[in-house]
Amino acid sequence: MKKKNKSIWNTRIKGNTSNFFQKVSSSIDVDKRLFKEDILASIVHVEMLNRQKIINFKVKNKIIWGLKKIQNLIVKKKYIFDYKDEDIHMSIEKKLYELIGEDAGYIHTARSRNDQVLVDLKIWMTNSNHKLIKTLDQTIKNIIKIAEKNIYTIMPGFTHLKNAQPISFAHYMLAYVEMFSRDKKRLENNFQSLSQNPLGSGALSGTSFNIDRNFTTKKLGFKSPTGNSIDTVSDRDFVLDFLYASSLCAMHISRLAEEFIIWNSDAFKLIALNDSIVTGSSIMPQKKNPDSLEHLRGKVSNSYGNLFSMMTILKGLPLSYFKDLQDDKKIVFDTFDNLMNSIKILNDVLKNFSVNKSEMTNLANKGFITATDLADHLVKNLNYPFRKSYQLTARIVNYCEKNKKKLSDLSYKELKMLEPNIKEDVSKVFDLKNSINSKKSYGGTSFENIKKMIKKYKNA
Ligand code: ARG
Repeated sequence: MKKKNKSIWNTRIKGNTSNFFQKVSSSIDVDKRLFKEDILASIVHVEMLNRQKIINFKVKNKIIWGLKKIQNLIVKKKYIFDYKDEDIHMSIEKKLYELIGEDAGYIHTARSRNDQVLVDLKIWMTNSNHKLIKTLDQTIKNIIKIAEKNIYTIMPGFTHLKNAQPISFAHYMLAYVEMFSRDKKRLENNFQSLSQNPLGSGALSGTSFNIDRNFTTKKLGFKSPTGNSIDTVSDRDFVLDFLYASSLCAMHISRLAEEFIIWNSDAFKLIALNDSIVTGSSIMPQKKNPDSLEHLRGKVSNSYGNLFSMMTILKGLPLSYFKDLQDDKKIVFDTFDNLMNSIKILNDVLKNFSVNKSEMTNLANKGFITATDLADHLVKNLNYPFRKSYQLTARIVNYCEKNKKKLSDLSYKELKMLEPNIKEDVSKVFDLKNSINSKKSYGGTSFENIKKMIKKYKNA
């Protein structure tokens, strides 16, 4: 610090660090976001040092006073983040020196930036995971609301984007409750590793000072101290867990977005987006484009990219700390910001579209969608093996196609001609509602099942 251009540790390194490298490698613009966590962890650290008689009471108080002052300056935007300070940890220690003088130097006793940065990041990620989970709760609530209003809304279920079997639109939407609940669970699972306190691992081997890791663990809201100092400063598994969980959530959002884009298209018209979530065209006056959904569909690429960046950083990286790891924060913040924005946009979309029930039913009436119901009926009533019923039904569908008829247009006479053993009550299987309601197997689309599941989700 004696010379302007020199950092705190710059006693043995005689020359100045290349200005260009200093600028490029400085992480302060990214990790300044951790200032609150850094100050909190530093306060607890010096409290512990004092309790353990490693630093005296006066010094502890002086440091805490300085740290609180720094927090105030940052919050009030009266703090200058200088890239020359390299990262948030050095920046704060340097400022502390300016405020309280030499005693600031006691703050870094029995710790290293290697454990310091991890404690900051883990606290930040724990809070951020909670925020994501809360926002996903809103998504789930929004979907349940849509489902409640659409229990009896009939639509075609698709496989290969071809009409497959009739389903309730509510059942369809509730599929996403399952997905987002799993996303929540994955984020919750991360609390396990996030609850292990890295502070006290030092640079890599622990410390010779008589520190109390249980004290800092408790005070900072962790559950236990990490078990191996080398692993602790090298480990970014918890970052990968977060990136993977986020990627899956973003992927689910992109699937929903894509479906809504298709359904909102002029070819399908199954839903209509409200004006608040569409965008116009600069040349085509009639256009209302689903840009918000396209944004959601595209954004998953960001999560995947970040996940792969982090996996690549860690591949073959020896233990313990290396500069390579510094990028973890940029990656985590970027993934978090994008995912949070995406969930919020999705929540907006879910409140701003209408369901075109008649078009849904219209479409469900196309494509011989009750053919499986007919095959099942033949199994149940004529005791045929399923494969025989399947082939018989295929023949009946072919007949319909040739004669430009729907299955429900067939007279009993025609059906009898195609299958002499068929009974008159067969006609009920062509009814869409009847088909849906017959799917009573657990997790199926029957109206009663849907009502039960809605109740279950609401109580979850
Ligand atoms: N800014 C650094 C990072 O995030 C903090 C740890 C630096 N440690 C070191 N030995 N250079 O990775």
